[in-house]
Amino acid sequence: MGHLSVKHISQSFEKDSGESTKALEDVSLEIEDGEFVCIIGPSGCGKTTLLRIIAGLDIPDSGQVTLDGDTITVPDPRRGMVFQEYSLFPWRTVMENITFGMEMQHVPQAERLKTAEEYLNLVGLEQFRNSYPYELSGGMRQRVAIVRALANNPSVLLMDEPFGALDAQTRNLLQQELLQIWSKKKITILFVTHSVDEAVYLADRIVVMSARPGKVKEIVTVTLPRPRDRTSRQANELRNKLLEELAEERKK
Ligand SMILES: Nc1ncnc2c1ncn2[C@@H]1O[C@H](COP(=O)(O)OP(=O)(O)OP(=O)(O)O)[C@@H](O)[C@H]1O
Ligand SMILES: [Mg+2]
Repeated sequence: MGHLSVKHISQSFEKDSGESTKALEDVSLEIEDGEFVCIIGPSGCGKTTLLRIIAGLDIPDSGQVTLDGDTITVPDPRRGMVFQEYSLFPWRTVMENITFGMEMQHVPQAERLKTAEEYLNLVGLEQFRNSYPYELSGGMRQRVAIVRALANNPSVLLMDEPFGALDAQTRNLLQQELLQIWSKKKITILFVTHSVDEAVYLADRIVVMSARPGKVKEIVTVTLPRPRDRTSRQANELRNKLLEELAEERKK
């Protein structure tokens, strides 16, 4: 199960100067179990702040987030998080990174290794089980970061620009792999991106956020059939519409 309900979230931050910045203002969002939702919006509009609140890493000033009816107050492996880069433990091998969460939950060793092998296979990294993160390419590292989160069997995967640092070709490949994993595991995914192309390729719905303070400006349902053709006329039209909306926000 993975129904996320974000209700009237507001969040401000104190600056060193003493003034406060309003990062999020009255953000509400319902995300269905198994849905793939992308969030786009100008830099600084509060996307990471929102994801951190949903992860339970931060407590909002007001409002609440529930997962299947339970209020989120602390991090929990049922909500896996994948960051932009460098989120692997550099002192652990690929295998040890993947088994980390299961160790924390005292999953027996034999089961940990079995699960980790399954995920190594899923992303084709069997040959690299004993490698350290510095020995991997950027794309391989992000694959490990994704399966490390998945190995905890989460119902929700929160992803903050996970492919932002990758070259275009690797990025497209990882998008395809992520969609395959998503349809196989039937998890809910909330995915922050700066790329309109990425959002149109991945999402069931796209949440467009407005500039500071961050609010939900619009929610667009993407009806393009899967597997999607990035070059289709409909994809193009949708990208143009979203780019215009983002440009409007940047002018503010
Ligand atoms: N820990 C913090 N302390 C003070 N201010 C913060 C903190 N975290 C975020 N902010 C402020 O909140 C606002 C939103 O930041 P956030 O990182 O959520 O934006 P974002 O949408 O993820 O931006 P980007 O697209 O550049 O990653 C910014 O004005 C930022 O300066
Ligand atoms: Mg961010």
